Amino acid sequence: MNLSDKKATLSFSDGSPSIQLPVYKGTIGPDVIDIRKLYGQTGMFTYDPGFMSTAACESAITYIDGDKGELLYRGYPIEQIAHKCDYLDTCYLLLYGELPTKEQSQGFHKRILTHTMINEQMLSFLRGFRRDAHPMAVLTGMVGALSAFYHADINDATQRDIAAIQLIAKMPTLVAVAHKYGVGEPYMYPQNNHSYAGNFLHMMFATPCEDYKVNPVLERALDRIFILHADHEQNASTSTVRLCGSSGTNPFAAIAAGVACLWGPAHGGANEACLNMLTSIQKMGGVAKVGEFIDKVKDKNSGVRLMGFGHRVYKNYDPRAKLMQETCNEVLSDLGLEKDPLFALAKQLEKIALEDDYFVQRKLYPNVDFYSGIVQRAIGIPVNLFTGIFALARTVGWIAQLNEMLADPEYKIGRPRQLYTGAPRHNIG
Ligand code: CMC
Repeated sequence: MNLSDKKATLSFSDGSPSIQLPVYKGTIGPDVIDIRKLYGQTGMFTYDPGFMSTAACESAITYIDGDKGELLYRGYPIEQIAHKCDYLDTCYLLLYGELPTKEQSQGFHKRILTHTMINEQMLSFLRGFRRDAHPMAVLTGMVGALSAFYHADINDATQRDIAAIQLIAKMPTLVAVAHKYGVGEPYMYPQNNHSYAGNFLHMMFATPCEDYKVNPVLERALDRIFILHADHEQNASTSTVRLCGSSGTNPFAAIAAGVACLWGPAHGGANEACLNMLTSIQKMGGVAKVGEFIDKVKDKNSGVRLMGFGHRVYKNYDPRAKLMQETCNEVLSDLGLEKDPLFALAKQLEKIALEDDYFVQRKLYPNVDFYSGIVQRAIGIPVNLFTGIFALARTVGWIAQLNEMLADPEYKIGRPRQLYTGAPRHNIG
């Protein structure tokens, strides 16, 4: 870490001696004050629930400028990656720090696309779930269960790399079998001659009864969805993976913890919640009811939020939302769904919200999930699988961040402290 010329001085109004704390500089973004010695020197902790002002780690993978609405993977703007790279090259970039050469890219594609099968016994495990189980419940279990089928020593860099490949390669298969099991169709084995996204479409939508031809527009759209969800610095699920992995647990188990965290509607579950919201406005009367719905959102007592809007870090348009809107237009036009009523509704909601003082003052803009649900629905992905697609795509981010942490010789088990406000010591009776 690079020390800044600045030092932070912390002084106290009760006359206790002030202390000086080191300040570190990142490549870009806010400096950080190193408070590691604070407790030792003052007997006090810092208090920051929700991590509003806390950098929990040092990382060189992803950078977000929330005010500008900028997202960089290893320094490259997301717009350039989305237009010039495919998902597997993006995975390579996130895992190894630089875009692959042509040979490296071919080698990496081959490595992933020849590890797509899962241990056959995992299918018996899958059959233990109820057919109507939420796919995220199934995925949390199945990803955790990978640790029972594929051993990985978290302290060995080579084994961590093998685990990364296995996870990226097998996640589409897991998501697809969870879907097929839910709808009662036979599982389709991966076909390694397809692209990563094409293979996923095949496993999701092919049946043994007829030939399945991958639609290149949908294949590209899915690849774009994967790229846009690949990493997002220290979000809730990534921080969960880091914290979980910091105990030295099995990497597959740490990733399962990330899947569980992602499920919530404030995080990866927002795409499902957003589509459900659009469907319920549609049922209420569609575009004509947008004003009424926005009034409900603004009424704090209603408990209703505009799903797909707002972000902890972005206080500007989420750059992923713009790229997702572009994909949305492409997919709907290819499928002849330009007049899709949910898309029209989403556009109207976005227009009204962007002009409304409530949203303007709070800097609430559409996030990636506002349009991703519409694209996924048009592709034919069931609504309850949307978050599973997010988990599939985010796996590379989780594993890259986990491996970055484990490779750092200074990493420690994560152990937050607390402000205790319970009963003081007292005796029974
Ligand atoms: N609709 C209505 N009001 C909102 C919304 C929303 N979607 N988001 C934030 N607000 C209001 C909130 O009520 C609060 O108002 P006030 O200051 O008057 O109390 C203010 O804006 C700040 O909100 P917050 O909840 O303190 O902000 P946060 O940073 O803790 O929450 C968030 C961020 C993403 C959880 C939140 O914006 C939200 O719930 N959005 C809807 C869910 C969603 O779309 N999540 C997906 C995030 S992007 C995908 C991912 O990376 O996971």
